[in-house]
Amino acid sequence: MGRRVERLVFAINGERYEVSGVDPSTTLLEFIRTRTPYRGPKLGCGEGGCGACVVFLSKYDPIADLVEEFSASSCLTLLCSINFYSITTTEGLGNVKDGFHSIHQRMAGFHASQCGFCTPGMCMSLFSALVNADKKTDRPEPPDGFSKLTVSEAARAIQGNLCRCTGYRPILDACKSFATDVDLEDLGLNSFWKKGDKDLKTTKLPRYSSGGVCTFPEFLKTEIRSSSGVSNEAKLTSIEKGWYRPDSVEELYKLLNSNAFDERKVKLVVGNTSSGVYKDTDLYDKYIDLQAIPELSVIKKDNIGIEFGAAVTISTAIEVLREENNGAVIFKKIADHMNKVASPFVRNTASLGGNIMMAQRSEFASDIVTILLAAGSTVCIQTSSERVTLTLEEFLVRPPFDYKTLLLSIFIPSWSIAGTDLLFETYRAAPRPIGNAVAYLNCAFLAQISQCKESDGFVLDKIQLAFGAYGTQHATRARKVEEFLVGRAVTASVLLEAFGLLRETVVASKGTSHPEYRTSLAVSFLFSFLCPLAKELTEPRKTVLSNGDSAKYSDGGVNNCENNMTSNIVNLDHDDLHFSSQQEVEFGKGYLPVGEPTKKAGAEIQASGEAVYVDDIPAPKDCLYGAFIYSTRALAHVRGIKFNNSLASEKIVSVFTAKDIPSGGENIGSIFMFGSERLFADLLTEYAGEPLGILIAETQRFANIAAKQAIVDYDMENLEPPILTVEDAIRRESYFQIPPPLNPKPVGDFSKGMAEADRTIQSGEVNLGSQYYFYMETQTALALPDEDNCMVVYCSTQYTELTQSVIAKCLGIPFHNVRVITRRVGGGFGGKTSKAITVAAACALAAYKLRRPVRMYMDRKTDMIMVGARHPMKVKYSVGFKSEGKLTALHIDLRINAGISEDFSPLLPKCIISSLKGYNWGAFSCDVKLCKTNLISKSAMRAPGHLQGSYIAEAIIEHVASILSLDANYIRRKNLHTFESLTLYYQGNFGEASSYSLPSVFDELVLSPTYQQHVEMIKNFNCANKWKKRGISCMPTVYEVTLRPTPGKVSVLNDGSVVVEVGGIEIGQGLWTKVKQMAAFGLGKLWEDGSMNLLEKVRVVQADTISLIQGGLTAGSTTSESSCEAVRLSCGILVERLMPLKERLQELGGSVSWGTLIAQASMESVNLSASTYWVPDRTFKSYLNYGAALSEVEIDLLTGATTILRSDILYDCGKSLNPAVDVGQVEGAFVQGIGFFVNEEHLSNSDGVVLTDGTWTYKPPTVDTIPKQLNVEFFNSGHHQKRVLSSKASGEPPLVLAASVHCAIRQAIRAARKVHVSTTGSENSPSIFELAVPATMPVVKELCGLDNVDKYLESISARRSVKA
Ligand SMILES: Cc1cc2nc3c(=O)[nH]c(=O)nc-3n(C[C@H](O)[C@H](O)[C@H](O)COP(=O)(O)OP(=O)(O)OC[C@H]3O[C@@H](n4cnc5c(N)ncnc54)[C@H](O)[C@@H]3O)c2cc1C
Ligand code: FES
Ligand code: FES
Repeated sequence: MGRRVERLVFAINGERYEVSGVDPSTTLLEFIRTRTPYRGPKLGCGEGGCGACVVFLSKYDPIADLVEEFSASSCLTLLCSINFYSITTTEGLGNVKDGFHSIHQRMAGFHASQCGFCTPGMCMSLFSALVNADKKTDRPEPPDGFSKLTVSEAARAIQGNLCRCTGYRPILDACKSFATDVDLEDLGLNSFWKKGDKDLKTTKLPRYSSGGVCTFPEFLKTEIRSSSGVSNEAKLTSIEKGWYRPDSVEELYKLLNSNAFDERKVKLVVGNTSSGVYKDTDLYDKYIDLQAIPELSVIKKDNIGIEFGAAVTISTAIEVLREENNGAVIFKKIADHMNKVASPFVRNTASLGGNIMMAQRSEFASDIVTILLAAGSTVCIQTSSERVTLTLEEFLVRPPFDYKTLLLSIFIPSWSIAGTDLLFETYRAAPRPIGNAVAYLNCAFLAQISQCKESDGFVLDKIQLAFGAYGTQHATRARKVEEFLVGRAVTASVLLEAFGLLRETVVASKGTSHPEYRTSLAVSFLFSFLCPLAKELTEPRKTVLSNGDSAKYSDGGVNNCENNMTSNIVNLDHDDLHFSSQQEVEFGKGYLPVGEPTKKAGAEIQASGEAVYVDDIPAPKDCLYGAFIYSTRALAHVRGIKFNNSLASEKIVSVFTAKDIPSGGENIGSIFMFGSERLFADLLTEYAGEPLGILIAETQRFANIAAKQAIVDYDMENLEPPILTVEDAIRRESYFQIPPPLNPKPVGDFSKGMAEADRTIQSGEVNLGSQYYFYMETQTALALPDEDNCMVVYCSTQYTELTQSVIAKCLGIPFHNVRVITRRVGGGFGGKTSKAITVAAACALAAYKLRRPVRMYMDRKTDMIMVGARHPMKVKYSVGFKSEGKLTALHIDLRINAGISEDFSPLLPKCIISSLKGYNWGAFSCDVKLCKTNLISKSAMRAPGHLQGSYIAEAIIEHVASILSLDANYIRRKNLHTFESLTLYYQGNFGEASSYSLPSVFDELVLSPTYQQHVEMIKNFNCANKWKKRGISCMPTVYEVTLRPTPGKVSVLNDGSVVVEVGGIEIGQGLWTKVKQMAAFGLGKLWEDGSMNLLEKVRVVQADTISLIQGGLTAGSTTSESSCEAVRLSCGILVERLMPLKERLQELGGSVSWGTLIAQASMESVNLSASTYWVPDRTFKSYLNYGAALSEVEIDLLTGATTILRSDILYDCGKSLNPAVDVGQVEGAFVQGIGFFVNEEHLSNSDGVVLTDGTWTYKPPTVDTIPKQLNVEFFNSGHHQKRVLSSKASGEPPLVLAASVHCAIRQAIRAARKVHVSTTGSENSPSIFELAVPATMPVVKELCGLDNVDKYLESISARRSVKA
């Protein structure tokens, strides 16, 4: 049974590792993070869907003496499968000790790392793309310092990597800076050169040289050559350890037919990427690795086709198919489609066979199977008894094969038939255009055509239509449609009839989301494929030349393809990855280094993976790991918890529930100013996702999987049905009280305002759903019992102070016994406030009970289910307005779904109304109900309430505009506040008239010639294009922020280095960077001319609740400025203490250096530490922020896909403390807002359990869904005495401006509906409709008409019969 090697040998970052006795289910990521010093690869999802864990793998072939290299997701790669590989992590590229790699330096210099949790993965994806590009011998040598990478490849390099902070633009710039064809002028704000710099920019970029990193150490090559002859293959067949690597099919069957294997506990693997798709429900104790079976890796090419061994990876298949000339069109198209499967780092290890078997056995929505089905592929399989070749279709319809059936190979015929016209096309509609998203539907069509003798058209001699992923067991051929079409000439009426049959064929199974949409996609795609063949559908090409981009502005190509049969007829994928951007910002000069675009403190170490997050802290001795057991019922008695009899259950060390709260302690898991939440449900669970207990195991993976073995005994006896919606809550009058000061106040007399109106809308409605934080670092804490009943807790939290008090209360110990430490947080967005406390408290409780360290790093699914999200709400409005667009009155009924506890919710109405009041509504009133429901409590998420308030205002404005048939931007401008009305609406917080910049900001955008030009272009475009429409919209924001008291402490050590502590937490928002600048400025004041640059002397350190008390909450966009102010005041104290000494020294010997001054001060026992608790001025606790954004979009009427063509953001940032940080905040917030408005569908089941619980179903923006052009300009409203050095907030306000994208989509849909109504005579209003949030592809398509293709064809047929 193969040779045995009882150990694994590999290299990580050039260092040799030899491991034995490893659990075969250990992933490479787990090994790296727990058994090596490297922490660069991060766990973001564990599903292959985020790229945080990407590493670079190198594999040596000793016979060819070649190294094969590729990126891979280490969360899916099993350790045992990489025997004799070399692994490079971001630390291996460069580090603090050896110097950083140019990738790290450029990521830092382009301000591409905020929280930094995604950055190591980004670096590795880019590194892999650089290595691959540089290996291309057919490309010319790049200029010095560049790589052979192209700009478009640079964007694709990070296609599968998620970043929740930056909005991708700066990351793209960093990637593009390596490209040989980059125009450096196109790159954005960076720390290498200043705008307008005339010097040669190339020389300023940190130098890149290809091959600078040794990715495969010589010693490993030697060892491979000498071990087992010349084989690179791991002969790791240690039966005891459960990893088997047969080297022939016979060996495999010997293993399978032995009695050592139980189907439930053995897994056959190649890349193991399926573990990202189907979460293992139990542990496996045996794995059979198929990669060493040579037959499975063979690729055979001849003139009849290509045969791929089943273990060939998707990436290799793409390369081979692209090279192949025989049947070139088909192969190339298959390759192009495969290039949209997952992401590069998944495709590099994912096998074709694995994909096909998942489709056959587990109903996986495969793309590969669909396209191969249309191409007439066959497969060869081996069962225990025989080897057979089947058509792919025969293979798919068989009952799921058992684990003893081996897929050997896949054959794709070449289809080059001389003398015939052959068409082949593949399509997919997915939430992300270039991959990393499973399709709503995919399809591929192959047709042989000939000229029709009677007409000018074409006849279909043969046609193969395959459809998949639409909610079907497996991809299918639409046989009835094929039979109908064969032999017919393509005409509108033939297509109509065919589509009727297609609608009967492509029917999603019950429970599939958006079933009708999926069917309509099938029609759209087949129409796109066949339309060019129908003479009557061919119209002259229409072009719009106003922007000179005639090709792009053609009618989508649908009507212009007679001579281009095999081209991508309708470019439905929008996969052009050309991006551009501009940042127009001023750098402040008055308070240097404040105002400079200093690069983020610690950005390089974030890139090199050396920055320490909570889960990066090495596990202390005897550390145990926890995972929550949570409720899956909305309201039920909990009678007990049992566990499955499984391998995973054997890993349980302990379980703690409410019964285990120590005497004197409280069952408390979080607290906010309005109330608290239990740590664990006791006898009654009140919402799905409620913690029932914490399970403890020896590793995090064991804890996670063991927690899934829990069987909770629920009982609904004598319980009312749960309250889940606002409607339920209203019916049952289930409300939280809103404290009177927080209840929004009316403005003016609503009835009077309505009476003054010419027109009214009486019952408009807006519904808004939720949004999940999707910070890249999930909730995590590490609790260490300390002497004398103390507890030290490292926690990823935005609220250390409250974490400390909750833990102390829970354990029944004094607050000073609990020390909570937070260095940095891998993204928070509000989500690491109350919920982070629960995680910390649960770990602390377990640690307290066990007297051992306990840590928890929540898996993504649990995090998504157990952590609340944005508040859903229902809004009804009545609005009055004059015929010329002036608003006279608004009343809204606001029904907010707050979930089970108050949390932040009582503050929400004030936030909503504050932003809603950004317009002068005339009179305003509202009625607010905060609904208590049996859902997880909703919490603050970036721009809480403000986002909804702004959107509600825009929706009402749009509604008014459509009733009056006026331009919505005209209505907006007309109803912007005057300073007088502003004073009425924002009593006390309106500031001075001179600081009210909104009208100027708004006008600058909508009165610009560019805007006017684009409006014109859009009109022309919409006239000329049948299947694509564009829309443009501008919106303003008035965003009120509140300042909170914050402590700060500055200490100067004897060598002159400075340590700064602040209450605020570094969550990626650049707080440390601004604080550092402020400390340097504050202490630099000792030198009046500002000549002393102390920036590099300053280090900001972790928040520690014992060292600096009253830290408060990091939230609301103002923590950076208030922390800065506390630091400035502390510096002031030090300056006061040091100034006399400095003057004395100066008198003695002229100029005095910082070092001399501090040395002397310390000799003279000057107190070199000062702290302040800054409390905002009573007269200036809040202020208003202003900004506006203009967005332009294009929608595809066939698929519903939206492309954001351009967004321009003009934001009043006052005198920015750090323009680079603030631009980053603006862009990142805006893109997060786009997620809410366009991409992120947040769904729950009937018990309120979140269904969109991973990267498979929840789709935050990726690099291919951001605006193609993103411009940010700062509007400097000048000096302001009470704001911190005249600065303004930037973290949240720009997020609400993403509603401009939604409004632009609405405009585009309006244009589409106008055509639809005029061609179909539909009674639907073209302009008044509710556009849901998020405006996903199904939503857009539905509003444009799921039957728009049929209606179009009907109109053509009708016209034809009239003519006849
Ligand atoms: C994040 C992500 C996104 C993805 N997106 C897409 C997408 O958009 N479209 C798409 O089509 N696919 C997508 N996939 C699926 C991906 O293509 C498959 O996971 C991959 O091809 C499986 O190959 P593998 O070698 O990793 O299989 P493994 O995980 O090793 O095995 C998968 C299954 O097949 C069995 N198996 C493997 N090889 C054989 C064989 N030769 N004979 C018999 N049984 C075998 C295994 O026992 C196992 O049950 C995605 C996957 C991930 C992780
Ligand atoms: S953690 Fe591996 S891809 Fe997300
Ligand atoms: S910087 Fe990318 S996720 Fe935070």
